[in-house]
Amino acid sequence: MRLAIIGFGFLGRNLLKIIWEKMSLIREIDKDFLIVGAANSKGYIYNGDGLNVERLITTKDISKLSGFRAEPALNLIKNDLCDIIVEATPTNINDGEPGLTHIRLALSKGIHVITPNKGPLVLAFRELTELAKKNDCDLLYEGAVAGAIPIFSLVRECLQGDKIIRLYGILNGTTNYILSRMFFEEISFEIALKEAQEKGIAERDPSYDVDGIDAACKIVILSNALMGRDVKINDVERVSIRGITQEAISLAKKANYAIKLIGTINKRLEVAPKLIPINHPLCVHGTLNAIHLETDLAREITLVGYGAGKETISAILNDIITVLKRRTRK
Ligand SMILES: NC(=O)c1ccc[n+]([C@@H]2O[C@H](COP(=O)([O-])OP(=O)(O)OC[C@H]3O[C@@H](n4cnc5c(N)ncnc54)[C@H](OP(=O)(O)O)[C@@H]3O)[C@@H](O)[C@H]2O)c1
Repeated sequence: MRLAIIGFGFLGRNLLKIIWEKMSLIREIDKDFLIVGAANSKGYIYNGDGLNVERLITTKDISKLSGFRAEPALNLIKNDLCDIIVEATPTNINDGEPGLTHIRLALSKGIHVITPNKGPLVLAFRELTELAKKNDCDLLYEGAVAGAIPIFSLVRECLQGDKIIRLYGILNGTTNYILSRMFFEEISFEIALKEAQEKGIAERDPSYDVDGIDAACKIVILSNALMGRDVKINDVERVSIRGITQEAISLAKKANYAIKLIGTINKRLEVAPKLIPINHPLCVHGTLNAIHLETDLAREITLVGYGAGKETISAILNDIITVLKRRTRK
């Protein structure tokens, strides 16, 4: 199989490094596995016999490499230069671009897609999964929700006979960090936010995280993927954590509760601050994420893990290996 990485930023680069480290494991599954392309916003580098990975890893700006083509990454897909793409361009929840066009074209050509990019999944989940089915190819997105936590694989592989009844989750590490600092250090929201911004955990414009937009995107993907719904971002009610005071956190703490931003899939879809008993498995701190599932047979399962960062590569690599195992002829 020939893999192209579209979006050669933080995740794309780290993925390439890890694939390089794990190449012998991957080649045991697919002896012909090659990384043939890597693209950024300016163009791409391609070699049908396999890229010089060591050179790519050590080069800061791939557009300076000889052989770099200043053409849209879409050409890697259009010209059938790969069999799998990892689509890791920036998330855009307004129109899904550029990822949506990359993923649509790839799937319509039978090219397998692995993506941590929420935008296309939030806007066009049903269309994209139907396109993958129609063209007999895989669309996997484990890294798009809760980073390294294998929620989709768990349900797909281990809960095949279960019905998921409800889901609750801490799905945003930035807000969990802010609320944890308020809980443990007894500081205000403003100070905790400033600290998170200084550490690079929160963006300069924090609204995407603190107003629950990011968590709402994840609720949409989880609902559509795990519960067969067809919901959109406007179906999720949202309450920001901006209004949470230190007084509210202290009062909750005295009663053995923490305030957490919880995404809920029940009859209603919601992202809102909730009181969680401090001994509940969902009550995790720092930048950790957690997902609590209620099913008819297993009853309750909680998963805890890193929701972003390099750990996300675990999810992306597992998706790649899943495709190779399903699709490689021995
Ligand atoms: N970082 C995480 O921990 C994490 C975790 C889970 C999910 N995600 C999601 O994964 C995706 C990638 O995240 P990231 O942190 O790696 O982002 P990033 O560092 O900003 O990298 C994005 C890459 O996409 C490239 N790009 C932009 N427009 C493009 C286009 N039209 N064609 C081809 N490439 C294009 C950028 O090119 P330039 O280098 O030229 O700008 C850059 O290389 C995002 O959707 C993000 O939400 C990230």
